[in-house]
Amino acid sequence: MSNHVELKEKIQKKEAKVGIIGMGYVGLPLAIRFGEVGFKVYGFDIDESKIEKLKAGESYIKHIDSSNIKRVSQNFYPTSDFSKLSEVDAIIICVPTPLNNYHEPDMTYVFSTGETIAKYLKKGQLVVLESTTYPGTTDEDLKAILEKSGLKAGEDFYLAFSPEREDPGNKEFDISRIPKVVGGYSPKCLEVATELYSNITQKAVTVSSTKVAEAAKILENTYRAVNIALVNELKLLFDRMGIDIWEVIETAKTKPFGFQAFYPGPGLGGHCIPVDPFYLTWKAKEYEFHTRFIELAGEINTGMPYYVVNKTMEALNNIGKSIKGAKILVLGAAYKKDVDDLRESPSLKIITLLQDKGAIVDYNDPYIPEIPPLRKYSLKMHSVELTEENLKSYDALVIVTDHSVYDPTVILKNANLIIDTRNLIKAKDPKVIKA
Ligand SMILES: NC(=O)c1ccc[n+]([C@@H]2O[C@H](COP(=O)([O-])OP(=O)(O)OC[C@H]3O[C@@H](n4cnc5c(N)ncnc54)[C@H](O)[C@@H]3O)[C@@H](O)[C@H]2O)c1
Repeated sequence: MSNHVELKEKIQKKEAKVGIIGMGYVGLPLAIRFGEVGFKVYGFDIDESKIEKLKAGESYIKHIDSSNIKRVSQNFYPTSDFSKLSEVDAIIICVPTPLNNYHEPDMTYVFSTGETIAKYLKKGQLVVLESTTYPGTTDEDLKAILEKSGLKAGEDFYLAFSPEREDPGNKEFDISRIPKVVGGYSPKCLEVATELYSNITQKAVTVSSTKVAEAAKILENTYRAVNIALVNELKLLFDRMGIDIWEVIETAKTKPFGFQAFYPGPGLGGHCIPVDPFYLTWKAKEYEFHTRFIELAGEINTGMPYYVVNKTMEALNNIGKSIKGAKILVLGAAYKKDVDDLRESPSLKIITLLQDKGAIVDYNDPYIPEIPPLRKYSLKMHSVELTEENLKSYDALVIVTDHSVYDPTVILKNANLIIDTRNLIKAKDPKVIKA
């Protein structure tokens, strides 16, 4: 077994092998990054189809080019054979942390991964959790599961939490340029984890505990959820007052200090912002505490798709059409621009609500050719082509995602009625309704 000095040396010499569990939006780019700086990386996943693709050097995520995987093929070993966990020096967990049907943390992925690791855990290994979660997960729950191996955290193996801060599709900030927060279960755990991460990022930010690192990540995401809710609520008010929220934000933004712009939209989406704050809400109950800001933000943000549908109904009504039987094209299925991620996308809710009211709905998304059956939705739709002819054939167009490929001039020229939730169409025109 290696003590923490030996493990650090192994990491410094890049002789340490890294195992990353969960080859998703977080784990895959992380594996590529470790591979590119010279570490041997095993990429573990239970989804055989992903492993097969990765073995063939193919990416299954739009914003991650296959060339990146091919470039590190000498160092990158995708596998679903978890016994290989015993061959690595550092294990990083990047599995999902969603909410269950009761809006509570679904920890099954993290905990079952912990059970698997416990089966293969060896003295001297480092285990790091990256999945977003409530404070206490690492040093209470995960530690207890890993210690079923008979090994002790901080003595026999090293344990840390380091939250992922990936912003999918953001070309300005890749892993190397985003400071990495690291919290260790003990000072030695912190030392080895920091040594590992300092190889892939320009800056590692060390904190005093795993709980601080977990809480910091939830603060970051709650900050976004609450501020987005604030502008979403103001959007409703300013709409009644006849004031354009987008112009208001652009104006407020000119203040050089004390203001950061957040933008309204059709509702929250993605794996993080709509989900993570509720991990804290759940944990807070253990302390007889109610996270009122989080609940309020959740209430406002989840109301947005309903608002968009109401505005669509109103807009159709104003031109003498009923929503029942109206042909509506929803532009964008992804939860944000230029990504192919459908998770928690407000588009799904908006399409469902429009269909419930009797509208005939199609969608276009160049990155999502079909909407497969999902946990909460069974829409089974295919993206229609976005031609001038097609645009003309719908009673209304609802812009949900402002993908860069969408040309506002072509849309404005050809669509009959536009409900714009993203301010894609800047031109003032009576057929454009901001929602
Ligand atoms: N996507 C983001 O932008 C982002 C940003 C910051 C943090 N996070 C957090 O990172 C974590 C992972 O998110 P993601 O977006 O990468 O999820 P993802 O769904 O894209 O990827 C998770 C992967 O884990 C695999 N998996 C599930 N259970 C497994 C198991 N028991 N063993 C091995 N593999 C398993 C799945 O097949 C999938 O490929 C979550 O906690 C999320 O909140 C995500």
